[in-house]
Amino acid sequence: MPVITCIEDLKRLHRARTPRMFYDYAESGSYTEQTFRQNTTDFADIRLRQKVAVDMSNRSTASTMVGLPVSMPVGLAPVGMTGMQHADGEILAAKAAEKFGVPFCLSTMSICSIEDVAENTTKPFMFQLYVMRDQDFLAGMIERAKKANCSALVLTLDLQILGQRHKDLKNGLSAPPKLTLPVMLDLATKWRWGLGMLGTKRRQFGNIVGHAKNVGDMGSLSSWTAEQFDPQLDWDKVAKIRDMWGGKLILKGILDAEDARIAADFGADAIVVSNHGGRQLDGALSSIRMLPEIVEAVGDKIEIHLDSGIRSGQDVLKALALGAHATWIGRAFIHGLGAMGEAGVTKALEVIHKELDISMALCGERDVKKIGRHNVLIPKGFSDSYA
Ligand code: GLV
Repeated sequence: MPVITCIEDLKRLHRARTPRMFYDYAESGSYTEQTFRQNTTDFADIRLRQKVAVDMSNRSTASTMVGLPVSMPVGLAPVGMTGMQHADGEILAAKAAEKFGVPFCLSTMSICSIEDVAENTTKPFMFQLYVMRDQDFLAGMIERAKKANCSALVLTLDLQILGQRHKDLKNGLSAPPKLTLPVMLDLATKWRWGLGMLGTKRRQFGNIVGHAKNVGDMGSLSSWTAEQFDPQLDWDKVAKIRDMWGGKLILKGILDAEDARIAADFGADAIVVSNHGGRQLDGALSSIRMLPEIVEAVGDKIEIHLDSGIRSGQDVLKALALGAHATWIGRAFIHGLGAMGEAGVTKALEVIHKELDISMALCGERDVKKIGRHNVLIPKGFSDSYA
């Protein structure tokens, strides 16, 4: 077993152990993947400011996310088809998150159903919702999230139509995979994954199969989104969902200061500055580059979270320094899950926690909540060179 010291190590194992179509699904962006790439490379442009001879004992990474205590401000983001990266993936990731004291958010497009995750965990988790055309299904999903005692609803606003990911089309992505010759040849080398899948009954979109009517191809994420997602989503519809839910609400997918102002006036508990991991509007700026403008616009009005591009504790530190209250990881924990199941998700969280803790100390900070602009050096024009 190789020694795992960073997320990159988990990514290599994920690639070796998980069928190509699911690894590619996770590790790709839309179209040219410019935004996907820049989400990570833009973090590298920000530098940390070293401080010495500062007491670094008794450090704390504890914080809150929408008022809930967390052991570090890093949640497990909603990721479609997590249960195809590893058998029972959503349940395993939720278990790792609850043991670590960070939030887990279940995707609408999960393999394990919301009821299944609730039955197999002991603490409330968050639920991510897409706005569907089918009003009965939408209302039913909100009711199911209430029944499952979900701690917050994360409403995704940036995926009413799907940005094309070339690899998914070329690989014939579906859940469960269709057994074509190339898929069977690939599966022959991924025996752990296959054994896991043979041992579980959770192999389809668990929140949808058996609950939604008139769906053409239940196995395909792209046909489901094209047929079912509501292209007429507007702020009035968002308000209706807010009222139907009535609990803590996080609006995910904000990348524009004006949208952030509307969201802040809206009575939501937080926004997530996000470009969906570079999977939607290719050509959009990275989340970290858009963050300062959004913090300036609404930082005093609403809690601001950030996702897209976080692969290390140093990245978390940089996002907090630029004004995010908390962050979310997607691929970083999916690599852990694909590599080693629940233990891999725990490993991903441990890696990021340790990197955050040590980097924070070397920046002269003992309390994660005190991290700020003074901890970073930013190249001139980092956030205002685009108009
Ligand atoms: C769905 O959320 C996706 O980005 O594939």
